[in-house]
Amino acid sequence: MGKVIPKQEGLDHSVDFLREGYLFVANRRKSFQSNIFESRLLGERVICLGGEEAAEVFYDANKFTRQDAAPKRLLKTLFGEGGVQTLDGSEHTHRKQMFMSLMTKENIDRLLRLTYREWNQIERMGEEIVLYDIAQEVLMKAVCEWSGVPLAKEEVGKRTEEMRLLFESGTSLGPTYLQGRKARSSAEVWIRQMVKEVRSNRLLPNEHTALYEFSWHRDESGELLPEEVVAVEVLNILRPTVAISVYVLFTVLALHQFPDVKEQVERGEVSKTEFVQEVRRFYPFFPVAAARVKTDFEWDGYAFPEGTLTLLDLYGTNHDVSIWTEPDRFDPSRFKDWKESPFNFIPQGGGDVDFGHRCAGEHVTIAILAQVIELFTKEYAYTVPPQDLSYSFVDMPSLPKSKLRLTHLTRNQ
Ligand code: HEM
Repeated sequence: MGKVIPKQEGLDHSVDFLREGYLFVANRRKSFQSNIFESRLLGERVICLGGEEAAEVFYDANKFTRQDAAPKRLLKTLFGEGGVQTLDGSEHTHRKQMFMSLMTKENIDRLLRLTYREWNQIERMGEEIVLYDIAQEVLMKAVCEWSGVPLAKEEVGKRTEEMRLLFESGTSLGPTYLQGRKARSSAEVWIRQMVKEVRSNRLLPNEHTALYEFSWHRDESGELLPEEVVAVEVLNILRPTVAISVYVLFTVLALHQFPDVKEQVERGEVSKTEFVQEVRRFYPFFPVAAARVKTDFEWDGYAFPEGTLTLLDLYGTNHDVSIWTEPDRFDPSRFKDWKESPFNFIPQGGGDVDFGHRCAGEHVTIAILAQVIELFTKEYAYTVPPQDLSYSFVDMPSLPKSKLRLTHLTRNQ
């Protein structure tokens, strides 16, 4: 007879999850004094886990599956259906390799040249800018070119808005959620059309672009992927790259709110990478990752029955006192002698990137944000006028309320 998992009383805690957001799991881990507890969400028994050891179990592919793990509403907006996030085993590894083949240093450098070029055009956009909107356009134009996806000038606004809706609408209710579903259909039709053209040689993207590589990718049995799956996977590159705009805001916010640390970066005492890592650790983005128990197993004396939905606390693990000293202090220098394991720093998931579900775009994210730091410490002068810079621990994704307005943006000579 194993140990009994601490259990939250009550019929359903979905409302608490919506109310407490990023802190839902961490609050209960604290009150139960346990890195594992049981809850009920959307009428289902759920095991919630947090911390380094729990992350190691969660990313053990023999113990967990991604089948039926993501809520339907996220598949209809954020992820799309049939994408890499929902696969397991060798099918997943094979598909993941398709993504990872794009993530060479050479290819990431090419993306950085494109984002740099786009950032260099923003001054012309007027006196006061809303950084969230500008960053999204910069990232969208750059990632489309990087991916071999033609994006006409007149379409930039519409397609960028669609990407934003994909990652903003998944947890919304009512009209925003419906807009998100519409954005997904529209974006998939847009990319599917291109896949058709690539396959009939009417559109010829370069090799090493997502559109080229994904259109011609063959699955384990040597078949081309269905057009709609290629569209979902190309969007798995475009959408999260545009979502880096959320971290762009937090990066510029941190430079503004922690001027001492900004000076340390300017003096070279803190590296850009250390600063980026602390932004990714400190600010909320993805609250949890979800999987289902593949077959019955026991961990630490607790029983995990097959099929049980299990959530891993990503935000809370990045603020876990047993891993981080003073986790609520913004301090990039903590990364100087940091002993990283695949499970103790998990803003974009944990485990192995090639064989597990860890984010395919971590290096891209870090590189783009390091460039943002370079631009906003060295190359640009700007003013942050008074505005509401607070951010929520409930809204997903969370952002500074004002979306960061900047004035007097100029290039240093
Ligand atoms: C905005 C910053 C980003 C954040 C916060 C983020 C976060 C995440 C998280 C939490 C996961 C899931 C981990 C899991 O299921 O265990 C994930 C997976 C993924 N991410 Fe990212 N990501 C970001 C940027 C990117 C970028 C820039 C790309 C591509 C260029 C990307 C591509 C992917 C893909 C393809 C997966 C699925 C991996 C798999 O299931 O094997 N992400 N990301």
